[in-house]
Amino acid sequence: MDLIQSIRKRAIGTNKRIVLPEGEEERTLRAADDVLGENIAQLILIGNEAAIKENASHWDLKNIAKATIIDPINNPRKQYFADILFEIRKNKGLTIEQALKLVEDPLYLAVLLIKTGEADGEVAGANNATGDVLRPAFQIVKTQAGISAVSGAFIMVLKDKKFGQDGVLIFADCAVNPDPTARELAEIAVASAHTAKFIAGIEPRVAMLSFSTKGSAKHPKVDKIVEALAIAKEMNPDLLIDGELQADAAIIEAIGRKKAPGSTIAGTANVLVFPSLESGNIAYKLVQRMADAEAIGPVLQGLAAPINDLSRGCSVEDIVNLVAITVNQANGL
Ligand code: ACO
Repeated sequence: MDLIQSIRKRAIGTNKRIVLPEGEEERTLRAADDVLGENIAQLILIGNEAAIKENASHWDLKNIAKATIIDPINNPRKQYFADILFEIRKNKGLTIEQALKLVEDPLYLAVLLIKTGEADGEVAGANNATGDVLRPAFQIVKTQAGISAVSGAFIMVLKDKKFGQDGVLIFADCAVNPDPTARELAEIAVASAHTAKFIAGIEPRVAMLSFSTKGSAKHPKVDKIVEALAIAKEMNPDLLIDGELQADAAIIEAIGRKKAPGSTIAGTANVLVFPSLESGNIAYKLVQRMADAEAIGPVLQGLAAPINDLSRGCSVEDIVNLVAITVNQANGL
C-alpha cells in the first residue's frame, strides 16, 4: 500500500471533526463528498446553506447531507464567537465591532470552532492565499508549548527508492518562515522529525542543510546552522541529527562518508531542514517537477491544533489527502 493510502486508511472511522471554511467551492465540496463517503472524517462546511445544498444536488454529491453546515453571515451565534475573539485579541487592540465583522470571515470562524472544541482540525486554501489561512490560526489557536514558529513540511515520495527511506523524505520549512532564526530552525528540525515519524511513518534522520559541510565554508549563515544544530540537540537529545551539511553529503552515502566522516546521518538523511524559505520552497518544487515526485503537504507543524493549508492549484484528491493528514495529526499519529 502506498503512503497516502495508508494515511487515509489510518484516518477512516476515527470520527475526527474537520472544518472546511471554503464550503461552497467546487473542489472542496467534491472532496467533502469523498471524505464523508469513505468515512475519513466528520465535516463542518462553512458557507451559505442553500448554496451548498444546491451545488451538492447539481453535482450529485449525496454524502454532503451528512455534513454540518454553518452560515457565517446568518449565524445566530455571531455574538458568542465575537466575544471569544475579542477576549483573545483585545490586548492587540481588536474592538468588539471588529470582532463581530471578523467572525463573518469563514477563515476566522473555522479557527474559532477549533478553539471552542467544536472541531478538531481545519483544511483551507483552495481559494485563499497561505497568509490568509495562517493568520487566524496564529492569532487564535497559537503554537504548541515550546514552539514559537509554525512551519510547513512536505512529504516527498520519490520514484527513485535509493534516496531517504525507500524514496520517502521530509523537506522543511517550505511554506511559512521566510528567514528563520537559529532557534526557529531548531524547532523546524524537531517538528519535522515528528512529522517524519508519525505522519510519514519513517525513522527520522535529520540533516541541517547549508552550502557548507562541517566547516568547509566560513560565513555567518553557516554559523547559524551550527547554532541551530546545538539547540535542536538540546531540545531533543535522542534525535538523530547532524549539520551543517550540503545536500549531496546529506543524501548520498559515498559523499557523506567523504565530506562528513563519522557523522551519524550523513549520506542517509531522510529529513532535510533548509536554511530559508526560499531554498526549501524552491527545492521541493524542483524535485516535484524534475524527479516527478509526489509532494504531500504542506503539513503544518507546531500549531496547537491541526490546521493545514492547500495550494490554490489543488485537486479534489489533494484536499481529501490533506483532510486525512489533518485527521492523523488530530489523532496524534
Ligand atoms: N509561527 C507562529 N506564529 C507566527 C508565525 C510563525 N511562523 N509568523 C507570525 N506569527 C504570528 C505573530 O507572532 C503574530 O501574532 P500576534 O498577532 O498574536 O502577535 C501573528 O502571527 C501575525 O504576525 P505578523 O508578523 O503580523 O504576520 P503576517 O501576517 O505579516 O505574516 C505569514 C505571517 C502570513 C505566515 C508570513 O510569514 C508569510 O506570508 N509567510 C510566507 C507564506 C507564503 O507565502 N509561503 C509560500 C507559499 S506556500 C507554498 O508554496 C507551499
